Order: sequence, then C-alpha cells, then structure tokens
Amino acid sequence: MAFVELRDVHKHFGRNHVLRGVDLDVELHQVICLIGASGCGKSTLLRCINALEEIDGGVITVDGDRVSGPGIDVDAVRAHVGIVFQSFNLFPHLTALENVALAPRKVRRMSTREATSTARELLARVGLVDKADQYPDHLSGGQQQRVAIIRALAMSPRLLLLDEITSALDPELVAEVLDLVRELATDGMTMVLATHEMNFAREVASKICFMHQGTIHEEGPPEVIFSNPEKERTAGFLARIIAAGRL
Ligand SMILES: Nc1ncnc2c1ncn2[C@@H]1O[C@H](COP(=O)(O)OP(=O)(O)OP(=O)(O)O)[C@@H](O)[C@H]1O
Ligand SMILES: [Mg+2]
Repeated sequence: MAFVELRDVHKHFGRNHVLRGVDLDVELHQVICLIGASGCGKSTLLRCINALEEIDGGVITVDGDRVSGPGIDVDAVRAHVGIVFQSFNLFPHLTALENVALAPRKVRRMSTREATSTARELLARVGLVDKADQYPDHLSGGQQQRVAIIRALAMSPRLLLLDEITSALDPELVAEVLDLVRELATDGMTMVLATHEMNFAREVASKICFMHQGTIHEEGPPEVIFSNPEKERTAGFLARIIAAGRL
C-alpha cells in the first residue's frame, strides 16, 4: 500500500463535477507536483487530501488511515496533514512566533514553553528568528510564506500539501521560499504540491501529475513528462507554458 492513496476520487460543487475519478499513489519521501490548466482541480484535490473538502466518491488514505468518508475525525487528519496556501493565511493578530506555536499548544497540548522553544528553533532554521515578535503585516510576502510553512512543520506532519505557495509573491521573493521547499525535500518530507513553477517542479519532483478536467491525465518522472510526454494534451499544455516563457 502506498503512503498516500487516492482511488477513484470524485468531487462535485453543485452540478460542477470537479474531480472525476482521481487515482494517485504517493510513496513516503516522494515529492509529487500537480500541474495543469487553471480550474483543472489541483487545489480541490489538495483540499480533499486534507479533509477541508468532503469527497463524493472513492477513498483517500494517508499512512493507511482513511481521511475521507463518514465518521472521520477531521481535526486528527489535519493534525497530521499540513497545508500551506498561496495567500499565507497567517493570523494577523499573532506574532510570527505565536503563529508557529499556536497549533502545537492547542492541538498537540504542548506546554507554552515547549511550543515557544520549538517555534524559535523553526524560525531560526528559516533565518527569521529576529522577526519572532513581528506581526505578519510587518513581514515581506516571502517571510510570511516561510512562517506559514514552518507553522505547518511545527505540527510534525506526516504529509505536507503546498498549493501554489509562490504565486502571490514578487518574483525576487520566490527563490527564498523555493529554497526552503527544496530543503524539506532533501530532508525527506513527503509532499504534494500544486505549482506553476515548472522549472522547480522539474528539479524537485519525484513524479509529475498532469491534471486535465478533474483527472490525472498523465503522470511520470519529470524528465519524461517535460521532454517526451505520451499524451497530446500534456504536450499541448507544455507547449503553451513554453510559449509563455515559463519553461
Ligand atoms: N468552494 C467552491 N465552490 C464551488 N466551486 C468551486 C469551489 N472551489 C473550486 N470550485 C470549482 O472547481 C473547479 C476546480 O477548481 P480548483 O480551484 O481546484 O482548480 P485549480 O486547478 O486549483 O486552478 P488554479 O490553477 O486556477 O488554482 C473550478 O471549476 C472551480 O470553479
Ligand atoms: Mg488552485
């Protein structure tokens, strides 16, 4: 059994059949990059893996545990599966340190002292210990996104989901966030990320999944998908990316 398994996953928003039978295996320590046109279902898929959305059909398991279906403890799922969004979503009324320490205290019942010291270590790891007492609106976008990533890491997740985490950043701030993700990949963090950063995906991914209209239309190692895709739609998508100067 794969570390993360999706089998025939379906999701509707009203009449909109957004996920149409998604099958995906993620092995421990793999980095999976979801690529595909806007609206193909990347964010929805990530949100389903984190139980932020209920699915209408199929099964999702993480480390053997079902994360979908009746009787699921969504808080337990979210305690083990971290997610980071494009828009950071830091708590504006909490400092960087408090943002990172909050969930370990509330969800993991860690003492304030332990949560604070862990948060400090994580801030140091991303070079932001001097920003510990700053509120999010006093941090740059890249700094806020690094805090959002370590906030997820503070829960020691088994799996980390990253949804277009560099899309809202000024170009000069993208590198510092990608560097951190690269480091996490080297450390063996299992990750599924939706990204428009094709060069980064090519470099960091164990497997690329090209999504089209709610299914994984083609998947494979980056060197195959980017250089020699089998399916016409994959080739067409990549041709458009290349034409736009993004690969
Ligand atoms: N909460 C929602 N309510 C209704 N429809 C939704 C909701 N979230 C997403 N959708 C619809 O689901 C489809 C897939 O959206 P999704 O956000 O998953 O696409 P995406 O691949 O992440 O796109 P992008 O690259 O623009 O981020 C779209 O048609 C979208 O309008
Ligand atoms: Mg999206």
